[in-house]
Amino acid sequence: MYEELIEAAKAARLRAYAPYSNFLVGAAVLTRSGKLFPGCNIENSSYGATICAERVALGNAYAHGERELAAIAIVADTPTLCPPCGICRQVLFELGGGHFDIVLANLRGDVRVFTPAKLLPEAFSQAFLT
Ligand code: THU
Repeated sequence: MYEELIEAAKAARLRAYAPYSNFLVGAAVLTRSGKLFPGCNIENSSYGATICAERVALGNAYAHGERELAAIAIVADTPTLCPPCGICRQVLFELGGGHFDIVLANLRGDVRVFTPAKLLPEAFSQAFLT
């Protein structure tokens, strides 16, 4: 399952700009209409300006007017699966919505699927702002 999405994330990973960490991450968003939007991490000499691959992919989908998202694959070359950082979990929770698969994969063929609520229990959300 999600083979094509994982392949898109692997391809995006090779486009990462990561001269400081040399840690390449790729991501790809799948919309409910079946379109794919890639992302990769983009680092900066002002380290805090770095953007993670998954947020680039989500932004790419949104910038193309896509808001009905089905899944995202996130790929790194790690022996165990690379978990999204805290900021990305918050963004995945907000933009992924209730029915959204977060597919973590590595180059060894390991794959696990999570939901936003699983990765960010007791999340802050827009519900608290109304
Ligand atoms: N990174 C991602 O792109 N996604 C993750 O899920 C974890 C970390 C990036 C940020 C930075 O460019 C590099 O990996 C090392 O932290």
